[in-house]
Amino acid sequence: NWTMENFVELEIEKIHKAVGDKKVLCALSGGVDSSVVAALIHRAIGDQLTCIFVDHGLLRKDEAKTVMETFRDEFHMNVIKIDAKDRFLDKLQGVSDPEQKRKIIGNEFIYVFDDEASKLEDVDYLAQGTLYTDIIESGTDTAQTIKSHHNVGGLPEDMQFELIEPLNTLFKDEVRELGLELGLPEEIVWRQPFPGPGLAIRILGDVTEEKLAIVRESDAILRDEIAKAGLDREIWQYFTVLPNIRSVGVMGDSRTYDHTIAIRAVTSVDGMTSDWARIPLDILEKISNRMVNEVEQINRVVYDVTSKPPSTIEWE
Ligand code: XMP
Repeated sequence: NWTMENFVELEIEKIHKAVGDKKVLCALSGGVDSSVVAALIHRAIGDQLTCIFVDHGLLRKDEAKTVMETFRDEFHMNVIKIDAKDRFLDKLQGVSDPEQKRKIIGNEFIYVFDDEASKLEDVDYLAQGTLYTDIIESGTDTAQTIKSHHNVGGLPEDMQFELIEPLNTLFKDEVRELGLELGLPEEIVWRQPFPGPGLAIRILGDVTEEKLAIVRESDAILRDEIAKAGLDREIWQYFTVLPNIRSVGVMGDSRTYDHTIAIRAVTSVDGMTSDWARIPLDILEKISNRMVNEVEQINRVVYDVTSKPPSTIEWE
């Protein structure tokens, strides 16, 4: 009979057989799939696995820290963290078209990864967190024709590696179960989907460090309050968007002219369609108060009440 324990044992055996004493490389993003792949392969071959984690500076608050604490400090994996923030921000400077931003980030990711990978010797295999659904949906995903979904798995085909994809028979819920079986923290196993281009597509218009700070801080408050309210498993995705508009407000005795932040929170089964989440009003009030008080340059908070379609989940 099929159990997750058996699956782990069988996969470890398979990985052993396939890899032998060769080395494996994995692009770790902190997302569920790449995390589970890394943990599984590490369980099988230990130090023969090296992970590369590219911090493009577009991650959420504390995300890079969590990834390093989990995989390097707790799991004792070989993780190379690349701080590429300046490189990405530089390339993104003045760019406001959403697809252009995606393209730049996707390409830059490959350059950075490639650069680092070429420094490593004797690596023959590349591990990827491809799921069963990724295989059956590829080519038929209509969202792909609307937005070019770059994600961390999208590495070039001409790389000189053989692929290992140990999750390619699993569905998402099974991957989560596997992650728990391997001892990954709930924080990672239940992480909400986060786009490869990160916060860059949650800032309408050009991306600057200043705007990133507004999105990152407001997002941290939203996540904190949603978790406190116990809604984090009910809501598919919840995040903030900087529409890049300013409006007039009043703070104390003085007039302000500052940014508006939008809250986007949706329920969904697979991200293909979604409904806006009915967050209780008193929780929204708390979130709004905290954002205005704690995040500099925010003087107005709005809630996005559109479903997909006709909107999309992200604003870009
Ligand atoms: P949309 O905005 O198209 O989003 O309704 C559907 C799901 O896809 C995610 N998304 C992306 N994921 N790269 C990714 O890896 C992208 O460029 C990208 N754009 C959207 C979005 O967060 C949602 O889960």
